[in-house]
Amino acid sequence: MNAQRVIEIIQGYDGDPTASLAILQDVQRELKYLPREALELIAQQLDMPVGYVYRLATFFKVFSLQPKGEHICKICLGTACHVKGGPLILETMERELGVKAGNTTADGKFSVEGVRCLGACALAPIIVIDDEPLGQMTPDAVVTRVRQLRAGEVVKIPAQMPVKVAVREAVDLSAVPPKG
Ligand code: FES
Repeated sequence: MNAQRVIEIIQGYDGDPTASLAILQDVQRELKYLPREALELIAQQLDMPVGYVYRLATFFKVFSLQPKGEHICKICLGTACHVKGGPLILETMERELGVKAGNTTADGKFSVEGVRCLGACALAPIIVIDDEPLGQMTPDAVVTRVRQLRAGEVVKIPAQMPVKVAVREAVDLSAVPPKG
């Protein structure tokens, strides 16, 4: 773990304990998951009980204490995407990568996640790979994209031009567990 980088992220929020969720999100984005050492460092730097930081990290589904793949593939299974073929998109992704949702490929390259509405229903069915939203996906486009990523190609899918939308994981602050 790059402890210096974690400290820089915390300093970017002026060490403000009320920014703990944002810090956890940024650290996870950097490290792809939240290792125990990172949680302990965050607790120490924010002067918070380590148990509280652990509770935050385990309470919100968006956080992972397990290493994730190099590429994180999120498939929306919200109502609009479900109606427009989200389950088939997920099934195609699982078949192409040989893992079920919630898992990471043996080579550590890809993690697959089924997620709720991403707030871009007009683009259904939508997937997000490495924070890049790809709208109006088809099974063929999924296979093409995965193979391009596997081959290390950074090529857009012409017929499925990704639409850049700011998709932020919704975090319900009212659901933060009590301190202690
Ligand atoms: S249901 Fe998929 S973006 Fe809304």
